[in-house]
Amino acid sequence: MISLQNLRKTFSLHGGEATVLQFDSLEIAEGETLAIVGASGSGKTTLLNMIGGLLLPSFGEVFVNGVEVTQLKESARDHFRAKHIGMLFQSFHLLEAYSALENVELGAFFSGHAGKKEDAKKLLEDLGLPLHFHRHPSQLSGGQQARVALARALVGRPKVLLADEPTGSLDFEAREDVLGLILSMAKSRKMTVVCATHDEHAAQAFDRRVVLS
Ligand SMILES: Nc1ncnc2c1ncn2[C@@H]1O[C@H](COP(=O)(O)OP(=O)(O)OP(=O)(O)O)[C@@H](O)[C@H]1O
Ligand SMILES: [Mg+2]
Repeated sequence: MISLQNLRKTFSLHGGEATVLQFDSLEIAEGETLAIVGASGSGKTTLLNMIGGLLLPSFGEVFVNGVEVTQLKESARDHFRAKHIGMLFQSFHLLEAYSALENVELGAFFSGHAGKKEDAKKLLEDLGLPLHFHRHPSQLSGGQQARVALARALVGRPKVLLADEPTGSLDFEAREDVLGLILSMAKSRKMTVVCATHDEHAAQAFDRRVVLS
């Protein structure tokens, strides 16, 4: 499902080059759940952004669902991401001007997903927010916001979910809750999940862990 070959990312800093990430090969199977662990600065976000085509590697290839993402032009990469990849961020990036339901509907719109309204409602219900459709993000708890952001990421039925420390700002209970939802959605939809986390305990719930150093 996801294949990284001879991948390297360097940034130029102070006139020199710093290599922040290097992989000879990383293969992630369809439906596999993978935790990326590593200290702050080890390259977790960089890796997720390269899989999602938000960032190009300095060398090497990224394949997602058989498509060499690294060969696509920017607009084609944006289109590919919208259609096949769901993204979940630590700070959720919900739009305050819109209700929970509208945030999820916007996700459906941008992924080009036909079902829209009914799917958005059903997903919010499935994720345990049947009474929160019309609340705005600031009227929701952190755990509830995480679930709205998860619904928005999943409403387009992506084959891949990329999550960057999605539970980093939550307390223990909400963290377990949101992780459980991510992993059960992965199983029921055969969706591949790549999730960056600082949390060793959380990482144990995934099929596999990759440690970056
Ligand atoms: N645009 C950039 N220019 C130069 N260096 C960068 C750039 N983006 C990231 N880096 C460096 O690359 C390294 C990896 O950063 P990255 O954000 O991927 O780490 P991370 O594992 O996600 O950290 P955290 O756990 O704090 O989120 C860091 O040393 C960072 O300073
Ligand atoms: Mg990061």
